[in-house]
Amino acid sequence: MKLGIASDHAGYKMKEYLKKRLREMGFELTDFGTYGEESVDYPDYATKLAEAISKKVIDKGILICGTGIGVSIVANKYPGVRAGIAYSDDVAELIAKHNDANVICFGGRTMTMEEALKRVEIWLNTKFEGGRHERRINKINDLEGRICGNYR
Ligand code: RB5
Repeated sequence: MKLGIASDHAGYKMKEYLKKRLREMGFELTDFGTYGEESVDYPDYATKLAEAISKKVIDKGILICGTGIGVSIVANKYPGVRAGIAYSDDVAELIAKHNDANVICFGGRTMTMEEALKRVEIWLNTKFEGGRHERRINKINDLEGRICGNYR
């Protein structure tokens, strides 16, 4: 599985922590920036990762800003991207099980790094349940088709 990670300045420290830990665990992981703590604009980095998911260059991604909100707004504009903010362990499981989320978002200013790592592991180890949830994902795909045409 190919993973990606990106953040703005508010998520930079958490990005570096998760990157190191996930690489130690053996994951192939592309870093889409930012590469320092200087103030940047989160859309510039969320967009790089979301485009890579949308175009199937990577399979799943992790996005971090101050709250997780800004990066999730950007990511969810891309066809094929389903981004959820894992604000608890249960939610980290549910965004995989019910939403088949291919992007997990965190708040670098609202969560600890250890919480984020635990939630990444939960999310990666949880399978999509399918069934009624698949029907709902299909409705999202139909909607994207109507709105975005053949972007992908
Ligand atoms: C940056 O200060 C902050 O606004 C940003 O990281 C994010 O929280 C926006 O949603």
